[in-house]
Amino acid sequence: MQTIDTNMSFLEEIQRRRTFGIISHPDAGKTTLTEKLLLFGGAIQKAGAVKSSKIKDHARSDWMEIEKQRGISVATSVMGFNYKDIKINLLDTPGHQDFAEDTYRTLTAVDSVIMVVDCVKGVEMQTEKLMEVCRMRNTPVLCFINKLDREGQDPFDLLDEIEAKLRIKVHPLSWPISMGKSFKGVYSLYEKSLKLFTPSKTTIEEGIEISDINDPLLDQYVGETNAKQLRTDVELLEGVYPELNIQDYLDGKVAPVFFGSAVNNFGVKELLDTFIRIAPPPIPRETTLRLVNPEEEKFSGFIFKIHANMDPKHRNRIAFLRVCSGRFERGSNYLHVRQGKNIRFSNATAFMAQDREIVDEAWPGDIVGLFDTGNLKIGDSLTEGEKGVYTGIPSFSPEIFKEVVNKDAMKTKQMEKGLLQLMEEGVAQMFTYELGKKKVIGTVGALQFEVIQFRLKNEYSATVEFVPQNIYKACWISSKDSVKLQEFINSKQRHIALDKDGKLVFMAESKAWLQMVQDNFPAINFHFTSEFKD
Ligand code: G4P
Repeated sequence: MQTIDTNMSFLEEIQRRRTFGIISHPDAGKTTLTEKLLLFGGAIQKAGAVKSSKIKDHARSDWMEIEKQRGISVATSVMGFNYKDIKINLLDTPGHQDFAEDTYRTLTAVDSVIMVVDCVKGVEMQTEKLMEVCRMRNTPVLCFINKLDREGQDPFDLLDEIEAKLRIKVHPLSWPISMGKSFKGVYSLYEKSLKLFTPSKTTIEEGIEISDINDPLLDQYVGETNAKQLRTDVELLEGVYPELNIQDYLDGKVAPVFFGSAVNNFGVKELLDTFIRIAPPPIPRETTLRLVNPEEEKFSGFIFKIHANMDPKHRNRIAFLRVCSGRFERGSNYLHVRQGKNIRFSNATAFMAQDREIVDEAWPGDIVGLFDTGNLKIGDSLTEGEKGVYTGIPSFSPEIFKEVVNKDAMKTKQMEKGLLQLMEEGVAQMFTYELGKKKVIGTVGALQFEVIQFRLKNEYSATVEFVPQNIYKACWISSKDSVKLQEFINSKQRHIALDKDGKLVFMAESKAWLQMVQDNFPAINFHFTSEFKD
C-alpha cells in the first residue's frame, strides 16, 4: 500500500507533482530517454528494464506481438517515481503512428511534454503531428536533441528546422561541442559550465565550471579549434537568445532546447533537473461549466484511456483517471456526470515505477487506474457532485474509413457489443449512417483494422470483414440556423452519419468536393474535431 507523508499539506502535494509525456517520431530515442529518467528516479535499477512500447514494422501482423505489447503498455502506461522530492508521473505514448489517436488522448492528461528529436534525422512527420496537438492546448514543451554521438545536422540548422516545422520558438539552454566521433560534450548556457562527454551507459556526467568562456582551460578540455568555435557560437547565441522567459515556456510559446545522447546517459540529468525546476505542476482545466483549479477542495477528474479485456475470461477494464482537483479517495462515491449516477470505486490502483498497487488517495496530477465493469468511456468526468464535464478531449477526423460487415449472423449481438467496447476503449471511431444504418470505422492507421478483426474474433467470437470506403474526412457539422442545418442534412442524406455521442457528421468524399459543399452551404460549419465552438 502506498504511504503518503501526512505532514505534507494538500498544496505541497500538488506543487510537487509533474505530469508529462514524451513525444517523438519512432526511433528518435523516447524509450531510451524514459529508461534513463527512471534510472535517475531510482524506479529501475538497470538499463534494459523498460520494454519498448513500439510495434516494429516487421511485426505488423504478429498478433502475439500486439497482445504482448498491449500487456506491456498497461504496465508502462504510467510510470510514477520520485526525484528530489518531486513526484513525477510519466505517461507513455505509443510510438507506432497507427496508434496516434491514443497518443493524442494521452496528451490531454499531461501538463507538459518533452519532445525528442534525432539530430541526424531532424524534425520528422510524427513529431510535427504531435506538436499540433500540443499547440491546441498550449502545452509547454522542452526539447531534447538526441544522438549527438552521431554525425548529425548543424545545431543552428536544427533549431531553424524546429522553429519552421514545429512553429514554436526555441531557446537553447545547452550547446554541443562538435558531434559524432569528435563529440566533446555540451556547454550549459545558463550554468556557464562545461560537461564533457564520455560514452557510458551508467555514469552521470559532472559539470566543470567555466565562469569565463575565454578561460584557457576550455582549450585544454576540448581542443583549440573546438574552443574557438564554441566561443563564436556562444557569442552569437547570447546575442540572439537573451535570458529565457519561463512564462513564455509555460504559455507554450518557447521551447527550451537541450542537446545530449540518451543512450550514453549524457545530458539527461541536466534535462531532468531543469524539467523539475521549470515544468508546471498541475494546471487549471476547463470544464463545460468553468475553469477548475487543482487546489479546489472537491475532487474531480476525467478518463483519458481505457484498457479492456486483458483477461478475456473476465470482461475487466481499467480506466485511467487523471485527477484534476481535490483529493481522490478510494471507496468514496463520485458522480459519473454523463450517466448522472454515483459510482463507488473500491478498487483503485496507483502506478509507481512499473508496479501497480492499491492506492487509498491520490492528488491532482496523479493517474489512478479504476477497475470498471463497463460504465466508463474516454472523456467521462467524475466529480463530487458538480455537473461540468472536462473539455479538450476531442476526437479527430480519422484518415482511413472502412465499412464493417458482419460475416456471422449468429454472432450479431456479440459483434455489436464487441464493436461498442472497442470504440469505448478508443481503438477506432465508428460512424453510423442515418440512412441504412451502415457502420463505418475510421482509423488513423491501417493496423487498427487488423487489431479490431483479431480482437472481435478472439474476445467476442465475432467474424467481420471490412469494405474500403471512398471517404476523405469526417467533418462534424453545426449551424446557428437549425432550418438550414436540416436542409443540408436532407440534401446530403447519403453522407450523413452519427458519431459515438450521436453528433452529426458529414462524410466528405474528397477535398475538392468538401470545398464545393462548403461554398454551396455557407450557413453550415464544418469541423475536423468533435469539440468545437461555433
Ligand atoms: P523510440 O522509443 O523513440 O522508438 O526509440 P528508442 O529509444 O527505442 O531508440 C531507437 C534506437 O536509437 C535504439 O537503437 C537506441 O539504442 C538508439 N539510441 C537512442 N539514443 C541514442 C543515442 O543517444 N545515440 C545513439 N547512437 N543511439 C541512440 P536500436 O538499434 O533500434 O535498438 P537497440 O538494440 O539499441 O535497443
